[in-house]
Amino acid sequence: MSGAPKGLYIKTYGCQMNVYDSERMRDVLKPLGYAPVNAPEAADLVVLNTCHIREKATEKTFSELGKLKRMKEAGGGRMRIAVAGCVAQAEGDEILRRQPAVDLVVGPQSYHRLPEMIARIARETGDRLETDFAAEEKFDALPARASDGPSAFISVQEGCDKFCTFCVVPYTRGAEFSRAADAIAAEARQLARQGVKEIVLIGQNVNAWHGAPPSGDAGRGWGLGQLIRHIARIGGVERVRYTTSHPLDMDDDLIATHAEVDQLAPFLHLPVQSGSDRILKAMNRRHSAAEYLRIIEQVRAARPDIALASDFIVGFPGESERDFEATLDLVREVRFSQAYAFKYSRRPGTPAAGMDLQVDEAVKEERLARLLDLLQRQAQTFNDATVGRRLPVLFTRAGKHSDQALGYSPYMQPVHVDNGAGLIGRIAEAEIVAATMSSLTGRIVKESGTAADAASEAVA
Ligand code: SAH
Ligand code: SF4
Ligand code: F3S
Repeated sequence: MSGAPKGLYIKTYGCQMNVYDSERMRDVLKPLGYAPVNAPEAADLVVLNTCHIREKATEKTFSELGKLKRMKEAGGGRMRIAVAGCVAQAEGDEILRRQPAVDLVVGPQSYHRLPEMIARIARETGDRLETDFAAEEKFDALPARASDGPSAFISVQEGCDKFCTFCVVPYTRGAEFSRAADAIAAEARQLARQGVKEIVLIGQNVNAWHGAPPSGDAGRGWGLGQLIRHIARIGGVERVRYTTSHPLDMDDDLIATHAEVDQLAPFLHLPVQSGSDRILKAMNRRHSAAEYLRIIEQVRAARPDIALASDFIVGFPGESERDFEATLDLVREVRFSQAYAFKYSRRPGTPAAGMDLQVDEAVKEERLARLLDLLQRQAQTFNDATVGRRLPVLFTRAGKHSDQALGYSPYMQPVHVDNGAGLIGRIAEAEIVAATMSSLTGRIVKESGTAADAASEAVA
């Protein structure tokens, strides 16, 4: 199945799962002759990989489609437009009805079928919508993995069974599914052979991963801690990360890997959403604030220097000033290195959308500003504390200014250095000379660092 070169432009919104899916769509479309181009105007096929998590994200899909429609008309109708991702899954019929310029709609578990769908629209026959849930079939059908940098995501767990009352993900991504350890390790090896140094294991609830152990292992199903040890043993893999985790699935073995595995980066993104037990209950998070703090304590005991990140929602239905202050208290207690905070967004079809006592927009704004102010001060404090230290930085791309390189510290802080040409794709040791709340400036002191250096440095 090859053909004349055709331009492909994929625009990605939303979370790491979508970033991964966009890469895999490129892999799926490559045998058909599709190669990435830098602008939608130059593309034969434009894919919008969409996010449904908050109202604003969904609105973006429709405004972007309006722009693409005009582009398609200006080009004489040659451009094909595909909508993928979570809005496709949730509102596929609506998209086809509202925007006739869209040629096809494909959900997050169906994009391995893109080649047949494209063939069908070329013949102008058959269905233009594929939104089945078939995660297992999808992974079996995907081609070999191509890397496009020194850090790569591998999806190990898809879907969500947690049903937090505010969240659309269980509806857009379907039930939890874990890939087998062998399939994940094979993908990691393919990437390591292409020079990838950092593997990021991703999932909507990545620590709910419970997959088949590697063939030859007599044990029962594995947990994420075992998978991390297995991946860290692959030659060339110098760093491992995992994201995003749920507090309920933070088991002892996973916590222990933070003490035991040198390659595992000292960073944990563990969303808590709220510090009020009443609100946590209404959100169906199934843990209390004290239980969350207890997990943090255990993680810190395993890895004292770990950087902690989280997600917060302000203005969940029924949230009082007191509830909100409990969130601020929790933040003060944990001291995060970075965090995301969102105003609650009412999502159709979720239980919270129908709850009484929806919070005023102005109150949400005010609480968001107060929370962000605190989180930003904590981020600045965390970053300031790394000034003067030497950290191994994995350089992933060129910076804004010429000869600048941008990379990440083990703590997931962006670091830029001057005179960085030649560093991209490598780990080098940088002395941190300045910090803002969102990034660090470094100066290269040694051109090769290893994960073992990182570990000994980090506990120094
Ligand atoms: N699976 C992850 C998060 C997935 S969504 C987890 O459970 O932690 C990413 C973040 O978006 C969530 O952590 C939450 O903070 C936010 N979010 C989800 N639904 C939202 C909504 N309806 N309104 C505002 N923020 C929301
Ligand atoms: Fe959404 Fe909750 Fe599942 Fe995270 S755990 S994806 S917030 S339902
Ligand atoms: Fe958005 Fe879907 Fe991810 S709704 S956050 S792209 S799982």
